[in-house]
Order: sequence, then C-alpha cells, then structure tokens
Amino acid sequence: MVFDLDLIKKIYGSMPSKVDAARKLVGKPLTLAEKILYSHLYQAPAHAYERGAAYVDFAPDRVAMQDATAQMALLQFMTCGREKVAVPSTVHCDHLIQAKTGAAADLATAKDVNKEVYDFLASISNKYGIGFWKPGAGIIHQVVLENYAFPGGMMIGTDSHTPNAGGLGMVAIGVGGADAVDVMAGLPWELKMPKLIGVKLTGKMSGWTSAKDIILKVAGILTVKGGTGAIVEYFGEGADSLSATGKGTICNMGAEIGATCSLFAYDEKMAAYLKATGREEVAALADGIRDYLRPDKEVYSDPKKYYDQVIEIDLNTLEPYVNGPFTPDLAWPISEFAKAVKEHNWPEVLEVALIGSCTNSSYEDISRSASLAQQAIDKKLKTKAEFTITPGSEQVRYTIEKDGFLKTFDSIGGVVLANACGPCIGQWARHIDDPNRKNSIITSFNRNFAKRNDGLASTHAFVASPEIVTAFAIAGHLSFNPLKDKLKNEKGEEVMLDEPKGVELPPKGFSVDDAGYQAPAKDGKNVQVVVKSDSQRLQLLEPFAAWEGTDLKGLKLLIKAKGKCTTDHISMAGPWLKFRGHLDNISNNMLIGAVNFFNDKTDSVKNELTGEYGAVPATARAYKAASVGTVVVGDENYGEGSSREHAAMEPRHLGVRAIVVRSFARIHETNLKKQGMLALTFANKEDYDKVQEDDSIDILGLTSFAPGKPLTMVLNHKNGSKDEITLNHTYNEQQIGWFKAGGALNVIRAEFAK
Ligand code: F3S
Repeated sequence: MVFDLDLIKKIYGSMPSKVDAARKLVGKPLTLAEKILYSHLYQAPAHAYERGAAYVDFAPDRVAMQDATAQMALLQFMTCGREKVAVPSTVHCDHLIQAKTGAAADLATAKDVNKEVYDFLASISNKYGIGFWKPGAGIIHQVVLENYAFPGGMMIGTDSHTPNAGGLGMVAIGVGGADAVDVMAGLPWELKMPKLIGVKLTGKMSGWTSAKDIILKVAGILTVKGGTGAIVEYFGEGADSLSATGKGTICNMGAEIGATCSLFAYDEKMAAYLKATGREEVAALADGIRDYLRPDKEVYSDPKKYYDQVIEIDLNTLEPYVNGPFTPDLAWPISEFAKAVKEHNWPEVLEVALIGSCTNSSYEDISRSASLAQQAIDKKLKTKAEFTITPGSEQVRYTIEKDGFLKTFDSIGGVVLANACGPCIGQWARHIDDPNRKNSIITSFNRNFAKRNDGLASTHAFVASPEIVTAFAIAGHLSFNPLKDKLKNEKGEEVMLDEPKGVELPPKGFSVDDAGYQAPAKDGKNVQVVVKSDSQRLQLLEPFAAWEGTDLKGLKLLIKAKGKCTTDHISMAGPWLKFRGHLDNISNNMLIGAVNFFNDKTDSVKNELTGEYGAVPATARAYKAASVGTVVVGDENYGEGSSREHAAMEPRHLGVRAIVVRSFARIHETNLKKQGMLALTFANKEDYDKVQEDDSIDILGLTSFAPGKPLTMVLNHKNGSKDEITLNHTYNEQQIGWFKAGGALNVIRAEFAK
C-alpha cells in the first residue's frame, strides 16, 4: 500500500464538522467544490469567501510532481531549510522518455541519457521523504489516480493536467514548482476563491460516444479561456453513469479550457474503482461520509442558484467529436468533421494515430479500442496509418498485456510505447520524409497546439477519443465517419466497423509485477544529493535579486508577442526538456516560439543597443550584460497551457522586469508573481497597439505598489512623443511582498532563517 490511510481517516474525521460550519458561514447549501475547499482552509474561516475575488490560504493534502518540473521544484525546496516534506509528496519519471522505436528500447535509452537527472530525483526524494516512481512506472496522473487520489481530498501537482484526479472526486490543481515548494514546506498555499461552473449531464451515452466527447464538446462551448478561474463541477444522472476513469479523462482535459480544476461527486463508480485498485478501505471510509462527498441535494434542484454558470449536455444525443487542429477548442461533431477537413484544406491522409497517454489509457479505453482492433482482424482490415499505444502506467500495461489487448494491437501493426508522456509532450523522434510537408495526425491526448507532439509546425494535430482514433488509424484518412462509412478490406469487400465495446474494470482484476515505486528513507538526514558543478542538466539555484526600491526606468522592449503565446511558445518542451533542471541552459529557449509583432517572425527581435536583429534569448542576454532591464508585451491569455515555471523563471533570469499583456492564463500569472516578476495587464486592451519596437519604457507607481491600485507605463517613443498607459494588476499584499523580496522563495528562506 503506497497511500496513507491514516491521513485519509484524519481528513474524513474532521470533514463533516468543517463542512457543517462552512454551510452556516456561507448561509446556503453547498456545492461539492465548496465542501472540499472549505474543509481544506489553512485556518478556520471567519467569514465566507467571495468567489472570483477573495485570496484564500489552503492546506492541500498532497503534492505530486513529474520529472520535468520536479527538478526545479526540488532545487528550490532544497534551498529552504526543511528536513522533510510537510505533506505526502511524490515524484513521477514520465516526461523525459523519448518515443522512438518502442517501449523497451526507448526506456533503456532514457535511463541511460537521463541517468544524472533520475539519480538526482531518486536521491533528493529519498532524502526529503518523497515517494519516487521510477522511469517506466507510468504517467503521473494515471499513477496518482490508481494510488493516491481520494474523494474529498485536495492536492496540487506541478503539471497542468493534475485535475485528472477529479475523476475520483478530488480537488486537484496544477501549479508551478514554487507553489509545490510552499506546500512541501508546510506553508499555506494561496488561491483566489474559484468561481463555479456547473455542467449538468442528462441521459446516457451509447455506441461510439465516450467520456472524451463530453469534454471535447465542453471545450467547444467554453473555449480555451472559458474555465479560467473556475472549478467545473459535473452533476446529474449522466455524471453518475460514467466510469471513474471516464470522469478522470473529463477532468484531465478541463485544463484545456483553463479551468482551475474539474470535479465529480463520489458515487458507485468511484467506489468500484477504489476497490479495483486495492483501496477497499478508502471506499468504506468514503461511504461513511458519502453526503459530504456530494453536493447538498438542494444544489441539484436549482443549480443556477449555486453555480456562477450552468451548462447542460444531453448524453443521449451527444456525438463523438474531433477537435483541432492547433487548438483543443475547435470542436467538430463527427458528422461535420469530414466537411470541415475538405473546406479548410487540412491534409486528408492520416499519417499517425496515437492512443493512450495520461488522458485516455484506462482499461475501459484500451478495451474499447482493442474491440475495434479485433474487428479489423476479423474483417480483414489493416491499419493504414501508423498506430501507437501509450499505456498510462505499468499496472495498466501489465493488465492489458495479460488480458490479450496488446497482442490484438500488435496484430494490426500497433506499436506499444513506454508508459510515459512521449509524443504527448514532444518527446517523439518521429520518422517523416519531409518535416515541412503539411500532414495530419490524431491523438487521444489532450493538447494539440502547433509543434506540441513532434515539434513540426506543419503537423495538423487533432484530438478525439481512443476509439475514434483507432477507427481513423484503420481508415487512414480524416474524411471517414466510422458511424456511417464503409471501408474496403483486403478482399475488396465493403465492411463497416461495429460500435466499440469495452469493460470499465478488468474482470480478473488489475495486476502488476513491479509497479516501479521506491519508498523514501525513514530518516533521510544522511542521504547525499549530488549536483555536479559542471553539469549541463542540473544547476543549483542562486536567489534572485530583491527589488531595488525605485520605479523602473529606461527599460527596453524585448518582444511584443503577437497572438497566441502559450507556455510552449515561451519555454518550448521537446528537446529542451533535458535542461529543466538547469536554469541558465534552458533559458536559451526563452520565447523562441513567440511571433514578433513587428516582423511576424519567431525568434527574431531588435536589439536597440545595436540596431540589429537576433534571437530572443541572445538579445535578452545582451541587454542583461549591459544592465538594461526589459519588458515583454503579450496578447490575450498569455501563458496558457502548462504549469511550467520555467516560463516565468527564464525571463526573470535573463533580466526581464515586467510582462505586460492583454490577459493572463491563471497559472502563469501566479508563476510570474512567485518569481518576483511584474505581471501586469493593459487597463485598456487597445493600448497594446501603442507599444512600438524602439520604445524606452518606464514603469511607475512601484514605490506605492498596493492591491487594487493600478501602475503606470510610460512609452517614450523614438520620435520624442509619449504615451502614458494604465496597467492593472491582481497582486495582493503577500504577492507584493514577493515582488519586493525578489521572489516568494526569498520570503520562505528568510522565514526559516528566523
Ligand atoms: Fe504527460 Fe501529456 Fe499527460 S505530457 S502528463 S501525457 S498531458
């Protein structure tokens, strides 16, 4: 047993009284999100908190970190003077394994290439009391769902798809490493009280439709920004009919609409999953406080009164969806997809179909996809596209091998990749004849921004359920609708695929030989953590400088980013993942994917000191060497996507003083604040247009920096004219303290030194 039953007993022991007290305070029946949030406050509340406005201190139960973000989180943690983590925490080695030929060879290569980093993570976990999941053990969110998630709990994780654990009724939120450091150090974790979006699911799915289609449809309705600052709570008969892992898929992809997290209420399906994964005691404990793990009954009868927004989806009429390309909110019902492919001139030939990942590799997903693969065998069909399968964990992989599904996939040419992120995060050595050729791929993953999967701007990536992806792999072209189109088999006969069939949980149970877990030492005091001084992969951190106490004057514009600027544009993944533990080296990817407004090019900005154009990181280094601070200007939802704090640390390291945008994605805005950076928004969004390439920029008002009080940006244009612009911010007192100290870590360090 890797989970801490005593901890769950303690949490459940105090939850009813905390929830009852909160109901009195709020003065009305409570949603599930409110029950969990109010029972996880750092201190007992004196009043109700206003949603979308009040900053609240929470005490999460757990922390989970994946290997790419854990490096920086733990490098930060080791500087803050603690002997052990204050809450149960885990590290999962999943992001650094590159998919090339297949599971065994790719895993062996990764262990070799990343040895230094894995050794660092294993030893630092051992030292500070952190559970360590070795490379090959599985993808963080699947391993968490199988082992640690529990109804009514609260966790944070250094990965944006942490909300996957909402499938087991947990408030699970993606954060940057600096937030993880707070919680591991036993400090309160601050979050603006989220707004609540209720999604009522009526009816029941059947046939080709699966849980993935619910979130693909929701993404189309709410768009990539629609969930910002909100918890999405699903309810209704349709919600209770979904398997726990199906619920997990929906919560996982809630990250694609910017939601703080997503949540389902405790029900029979969750109990069944807990029991199937060896946690009968947790299910029994949850049954004991069942009413506290579901919204109050009144919420169901009049949801509009309790949620800030309510959406209703009828599962009886829900179609399978295909979303994309380039953004997960471009949602096409399957009946309209073929037409869209033609109209937009997207490459119709499908080159690669990929199933699995943290989002969609449950036993149910795999069994439904395998039923299609079996049909392909029976009906004499072969896959026309390359087809890969990424199991979410060794437990899933072992079980689906034992039950014969991997053999079925193998028979139609499927390649099983390592239990790791691989192509989902650009860790994919794709074989393609011409990288500039427009091409299409389809995945059952969650994110499909340009270059995300294979680093190629020419790749059109679509997202769908594993069963739709499998059907497309067999058809080999995107104008196929498996619900009504026929395919020609090897004998030249026309055949149709029948509806996929699957089972939620393995009839003969899950099993695994070696799950890949290393428990930490009871007393890690003498465990040595090694970081070589000449390492190219790891670098010990130096504290950032404190604010100089004055307004910032004479700053230069580093880049005015045009359009979408996600964390992938700011700090690209793929080949750069290997530098996630080395701030100076990884800073060489800073903003290289962002489009310069003034020349429409990526990684080409003007150095005002020389008048020459150069790469963004090199230009930033030149300004830094000349002690000239810089400003980055951005568009809407700047920093959407992942929780990686490198996207905030790199500009901080390379001398950027302020990021000024039309709007921010939540996690990135917080990450910037944590690193002592100014994260500011145009009060008037049109002022974005006033910023010119050769401006000298002043940021005024910092000596009286206060919550709710705007700052001023003066754009001193080259022709002698000026524009004075009002900048809004969302800093509270504590965050202003971080800015002044030069970063949140400097504040923590000073507190422990007292
Ligand atoms: Fe990994 Fe992709 Fe999930 S990167 S954690 S498999 S979103």
